[in-house]
Amino acid sequence: MKFLVINGPNLNMLGVREPGIYGTVNYDGMVEHTRAGCAELGIDTEFYQSNHEGDLVDAIQQALGRVDGIVINPGAYTHTSIAILDALKSVQLPAAEVHISDVTKREAFRQISYAGMACQVHVIGQGIAGYVMAAKQLKEQIEAQA
Ligand code: DQA
Repeated sequence: MKFLVINGPNLNMLGVREPGIYGTVNYDGMVEHTRAGCAELGIDTEFYQSNHEGDLVDAIQQALGRVDGIVINPGAYTHTSIAILDALKSVQLPAAEVHISDVTKREAFRQISYAGMACQVHVIGQGIAGYVMAAKQLKEQIEAQA
């Protein structure tokens, strides 16, 4: 099983960006942690990060036929991007939404998740461990549906 792990804007700044909220592990560290944790679960991973909405849409479209599912943290585009929601709905791949911080306890503008409306798994507020948790849950759901 292979998943594409997509990260949106400012997630390349992990470790530097608001460490009290997002932790001290940088993007490469998160990638390695997630790659290793997923490998233990028998999941191959490919990673993509962009600060640009259209590039994220392209990455979702290009995942079709290449991977079994998508794990996505769309960053701030979570709360604004109908284009990312539509891309996820277009490819109809199993998808999991991840948020490092607990967005449910933050500002009002973080309370809506458009991308999450096309995801069957939601892991929120578990730090960077949430990526592996989301991949595990997504794999289990795919296997249960097979
Ligand atoms: C985030 C939460 C978003 O509200 C924020 O804009 C991010 C990161 C998270 O992982 O907690 O960039 O998706």
